[in-house]
Amino acid sequence: MSAAPGRPKQTRTAALQGEGSPVNTAPLSVEQIPAGVVTLADHEAHARTRLDDNAWAYFSGGAGDEFTLRANCSAWNERLLNPRVLQPLAGGHTRVKLLGRTLAHPVLLAPVAYQRMAHAGGEVASAYAAAALGAGMVLSTQASFPLETVADAIAADPIRGPLWFQLYIQPDRGFTRELVQRAERAGYEALVLTVDAPTSGARDRERRTNFHLPAHISAVNLAGMAAPAQRTLQPGQSALFDDLLATAPTWEDVAWLQSITRLPVVLKGVLHPDDARQAAALGVGGVIVSNHGGRTLDTLPATASVLPRIVQAVAGELPVLVDGGIRRGTDILKAMALGASAVLVGRPYLYGLANAGALGVAHVLRLLRDELEIAMALCGCRTLAQAGPHLLFRPD
Ligand code: FNR
Ligand code: LAC
Repeated sequence: MSAAPGRPKQTRTAALQGEGSPVNTAPLSVEQIPAGVVTLADHEAHARTRLDDNAWAYFSGGAGDEFTLRANCSAWNERLLNPRVLQPLAGGHTRVKLLGRTLAHPVLLAPVAYQRMAHAGGEVASAYAAAALGAGMVLSTQASFPLETVADAIAADPIRGPLWFQLYIQPDRGFTRELVQRAERAGYEALVLTVDAPTSGARDRERRTNFHLPAHISAVNLAGMAAPAQRTLQPGQSALFDDLLATAPTWEDVAWLQSITRLPVVLKGVLHPDDARQAAALGVGGVIVSNHGGRTLDTLPATASVLPRIVQAVAGELPVLVDGGIRRGTDILKAMALGASAVLVGRPYLYGLANAGALGVAHVLRLLRDELEIAMALCGCRTLAQAGPHLLFRPD
């Protein structure tokens, strides 16, 4: 196991001004939000001009024909709001409670792998931005910076949001246990176990561009893991079912994970009410309704459509978070009205990162929060505890 590199010698302010990370050798130019970029969609359009075809295919692509990728966004738009007027709004706020903490607002950065492909500051820059904006941050197992470096960068920040570690259970359970112990030692506050991707989806856009990781970028937190023994397949056996998936996690591994960690385990990628109930019965800390941003199985339903039945299935027993297609403050308000405890955003902050490093991620978070406040005010909703199904318009 490699030792944790030292704390980056920079302040949060410096990082937000674009000085990047310890590996960023670019001259100290101050990055700026490009003129005219005032929405998350603007960030996406601008990021297309910053990223090469290889990185663009990875960050923006989805599985198959990308029906689910598109449906995630359109499903939020199809739900309409049902405002009340003349409500008392003084003293309103966006605060929520989540896993024992009070957060300034209900937005977390979703785990996204290989962020150095978007900007040299990578996950460290994203973490600085999340901390500065009081947002939660979920670091991917496949992060391109050591998990200790990211945690250390923001540990002392008094206004930072929660820092969680996303876990992919590895074929080598001993290595997985060490990874969990590293995350605990580094100060992560929850483990987000991703359960919807025992194998990658059919990502056609990546295949068309012949996607490859640049040589200097890798899943550094998995360095040193022994390659799984190659199984000899018999005629008629499947490379997927008889090799890769032979060690894929099952419900027994969820219980195993809970037994080796003191951290709450949050299951990411739950779409079926029975799975939500099974998770609740195991005493997990929460579930995230997610279809992996449309990157695993295409033609899965949009998360906005699935959320209400998962909320109903767990009946307030545990927090239900949601991600996929959140692009506007109104989307967040709708998610909260449908019973979510918080939301995660994926691609939009990667686009902010590509456009202006930590400052770009901070801008994305700031836009979402400002839009959320405006949407609450214009719906007559003073606090998110007041958000409920009555905020959603039901056509006659
Ligand atoms: C992801 N996502 C993801 N999820 C996870 O559990 N571990 C990971 O390493 C990654 N990596 C990753 C890379 C890229 C490029 C993307 C776009 C997404 C899924 C992510 O956490 C989240 O579920 C979706 O991105 C949410 O959808 P939106 O906000 O991108 O629409
Ligand atoms: C992805 C993996 C890393 O979506 O979860 O690319």
